[in-house]
Amino acid sequence: MNKTQSLYRQAKKLIPGGTQLFSKRPELYAPGLWPAYFSKSSGCLVWDLDGKRYIDMASMGIGSCLLGYADPDVNAAVSRVVRAGNMSTLNAPEDVELAKLLISLHPWAHMVRFARTGGEAMSIAVRIARAKTGRDRVLFCGYHGWHDWYLAANVANKKSLDGHLLPGLNPLGVPRALRGTSTPFTYNDANGFQKLIKAGGKKVGAVILESIRGTQPEPRFLRAVQEETRAIGAVLIVDEITAGFRLAVGGAHLLFKLKPDIAVFAKGMSNGYPMSAVVGVSEVMQAAEDSFVSSTYWTERIGPTAAIATINKVKRLNIPAELCQIGRDVQSGWKNIAKQHGVEISVAGIDSLCHFSFKQGDPLLLKTLFTQIMLEAGFLATNAFYASFAHEKNIIENYLASADKAFFEIGKALRTGTERSLLRDFLMQINPLNTGNSSPKMSSVRL
Ligand SMILES: Cc1ncc(COP(=O)(O)O)c(C=O)c1O
Repeated sequence: MNKTQSLYRQAKKLIPGGTQLFSKRPELYAPGLWPAYFSKSSGCLVWDLDGKRYIDMASMGIGSCLLGYADPDVNAAVSRVVRAGNMSTLNAPEDVELAKLLISLHPWAHMVRFARTGGEAMSIAVRIARAKTGRDRVLFCGYHGWHDWYLAANVANKKSLDGHLLPGLNPLGVPRALRGTSTPFTYNDANGFQKLIKAGGKKVGAVILESIRGTQPEPRFLRAVQEETRAIGAVLIVDEITAGFRLAVGGAHLLFKLKPDIAVFAKGMSNGYPMSAVVGVSEVMQAAEDSFVSSTYWTERIGPTAAIATINKVKRLNIPAELCQIGRDVQSGWKNIAKQHGVEISVAGIDSLCHFSFKQGDPLLLKTLFTQIMLEAGFLATNAFYASFAHEKNIIENYLASADKAFFEIGKALRTGTERSLLRDFLMQINPLNTGNSSPKMSSVRL
């Protein structure tokens, strides 16, 4: 067994679950084959611990590196503050510069608080909304992190979150007293949302959603969310942690004329360095001062420095337009090669963050087989693609040429019923997707 796989075996004994982020578990892709660790990353290239080089056509750090890994401009800015000192008893002036920059991109907003991760920034936003309204209840749609306010939705019914990116989340350890405080609604279901508002009325303190994720928003839905939330005096929070800076320079809500009270940014904003921001209108943001929201590492200097450098580059090069074009090229490539080899797939998502699903055979087995074939060709690839600025034209062409070969194999196997025999033996044995012993259910995760 090579170094990379051997280290992950050790990790499973030392670290519950093996990784700190669920989406970085090799079991989700091709256990025993997917390289769990990297020694170096640059552009869209990643090297494992055994010196093998891969082209990342998967998630680019789970959506955290829009510009590509180790971006030279962001790294130069970060190196400057590392040399100058990234921490002191005093505050980082970059906080004020970044606040100004974010407000200039979101003219409806007046104030900003900073944190370092997406989930904690969402928790801050929920705290502010509850502090402002004096109400506990939250209505939400989509995935927003691991914190109690969110997992509370599964206390009453373990399946409440199943339609919201990560299914099967266990709320063990979340106080049962939070039962009934968080209720999910379905994206684009205006009637369902209106029913919840009618039932919850003035007990609802916050309404939370991503302005876009898997599908295009229906204008009637977004309008209903904005109007009904205002009508009951609740705080409207838009989660831009993944969509932000991917479709527009700033939040995707800008494209849909959605006017929230708070927008939350994180991994789309700082190209791999920890940083997050809660951007909002002053009447609501002031409530942060009436509560207690405070943490030592929210004051270090690398995060805001990286975010300023990233946002300035995103603006200068109109990165969202580039990412959308790259994503469209990949999507039309998938459709063409699938058609050519008689493999039925559906393609969905937004231009710069898209995925395909197999529509015949055992979709999970085929997805694992696709990953296996692509790894052998030197690509980190699954059925979802996060576009980055480092995905240059020749890289996409090489990827599609290898994907073409993979779809040829898959098409042939489907016709002869041999797809199972193409999977490496150990994938069949330890893939939790085949033994069904995992929680959350990895099988149904769409990354
Ligand atoms: C929309 C959305 N909200 C919240 C989060 C949580 O962010 P983090 O993983 O930085 O805590 C994520 C992460 O994937 C996300 O995509």
